[in-house]
Amino acid sequence: MSYGNTATDARPVTILTLKKMQEAGEKFTTVALYDAPMAAMADQCGVDVLLVGDSLGMTVLGFDSTLPVTMEHMIYHVEAVSRGSRRCLIMGDLPFMTYATPELAMQNATRIMQAGAHMVKIEGGEWLCETVSKLSDRGIPVCAHIGLTPQSVNKFGGFRVQGRDERSARKLLHDAKLLERAGADLLLLECVPDSLAEAITDELSIPTIGIGAGRATDAQVLVVNDILGLTPKPPKFSKNFLVETLDIPAALKKYVEDVKSGVFPADDHIFS
Ligand code: KIV
Repeated sequence: MSYGNTATDARPVTILTLKKMQEAGEKFTTVALYDAPMAAMADQCGVDVLLVGDSLGMTVLGFDSTLPVTMEHMIYHVEAVSRGSRRCLIMGDLPFMTYATPELAMQNATRIMQAGAHMVKIEGGEWLCETVSKLSDRGIPVCAHIGLTPQSVNKFGGFRVQGRDERSARKLLHDAKLLERAGADLLLLECVPDSLAEAITDELSIPTIGIGAGRATDAQVLVVNDILGLTPKPPKFSKNFLVETLDIPAALKKYVEDVKSGVFPADDHIFS
């Protein structure tokens, strides 16, 4: 089935493609999604990166956090997304406690890559550097995720914006630099003030992806349920693109267009 995409026959997206887009000042787009038909649509609608996020615990499986998500859940959904996508780069999350040591991370990242992912995403700052370095040295690209890291929701006391005070902002900037130095290929910033995301993006040479992190990051990511208005209480930083379009492919294309043109995120979606 075709969704009228011009990019279907384009070359596969790799981390080099993303780096070139960053250098050319072209924003790239990521969507967190979990199944083959949605992956095929996003692929054909010009999305660059498909994130099989452990948010699937909440968006698909009905848990109230990402903590109960297992490697088996992740593998099942990475395989499905991989069957649907031909062009996009597929990023797979490692779930809670499956990368608590570098050895565990290597075993579990191997399983995610063998299920069809092209890179893994892991949550954490300075403590993750050894793991990032080991994965990277062994050929596994890594996206490091800092800011509001949902697997630490109990430590944060809720889903809260991070880096609002000077000390925690400085710590996030410090962590970002160390993760880049350790070999991370991408940095995902979740729910941080826009000025902090801008400072981190300016300091790093790897591309940054933001969600609730303002406009300055090199890319944006949204969860497909939010794009399609399926979330009962959507977060401030998200947007339902289906309300102003005709169907799901049109909503995905509008998201891509609005990120590239800088229309999304608007002021309403930003923590300042
Ligand atoms: O799991 C996920 O979908 C994520 C995004 C919200 C960034 O980590």
